[in-house]
Amino acid sequence: MTTSRGDDIDTPLFIAIEGLDGSGSTTQTDQLVSRLREDGLAAVATREPSDGPIGSLIRQMLSGRLVQPAPDGGTTHVGRETLALLFAADRLDHLESAVKPALTAGRHVVTDRYYHSSYAYQGDPGDEQPLDLQWVRTLNERARTPDVTFFLEADVDLCLDRLAERGSRDIYENRERLTELRDQYLQVIDTLDEEGERIVRLDADRPRGAITDEIVETTMDLIGS
Ligand code: TMP
Repeated sequence: MTTSRGDDIDTPLFIAIEGLDGSGSTTQTDQLVSRLREDGLAAVATREPSDGPIGSLIRQMLSGRLVQPAPDGGTTHVGRETLALLFAADRLDHLESAVKPALTAGRHVVTDRYYHSSYAYQGDPGDEQPLDLQWVRTLNERARTPDVTFFLEADVDLCLDRLAERGSRDIYENRERLTELRDQYLQVIDTLDEEGERIVRLDADRPRGAITDEIVETTMDLIGS
């Protein structure tokens, strides 16, 4: 089968779902996989940071459970460069250990976050110590391009409400920071789209069922069933 962009996608799809914290990417990842399975298709949900060794380390760092000694005798978070390198290392490990084997076995793979998150979060120029986005992109240049990425474009206040309900906040989750991140995400998504990546922007301020329906419809079109 050949898609409108002219590429052959008879093989299973590698799909990324992206969006700010609280935008619903985890829910939509799970919903898409459920709906594909209901249609008799083999599909797996996965996520980044992954559940592998590097991903687990990153999650501990983000939640503040893993800190390092500071010169004043206290503790400090790991540096931004180190975190960017760890995200990129986790991504390649995730691809090798989980994504590629599943695709090879004929399963569609849906990942909750992928390199777009690194470009938005680690590449954010509004950060106190901004990293060079091009450097972050270089770190990720060996990571496979998804067949399609769904970007959940949600209002920052809606994301904050959902995060408050969940009661878990990591180091990125406050209004000012999420607003900056939203701007950076949108820029990154536009750039990648212009470069030819297949990216679908979705209005995520709607009921989650309507968003799932749109994601499923686009995915089914790509699968050709
Ligand atoms: P999540 O499990 O709620 O998606 O949280 C993961 C956090 O990690 C979220 O705040 C986004 C952040 N993140 C990055 O900063 N860079 C990355 O490359 C990825 C995958 C996630």
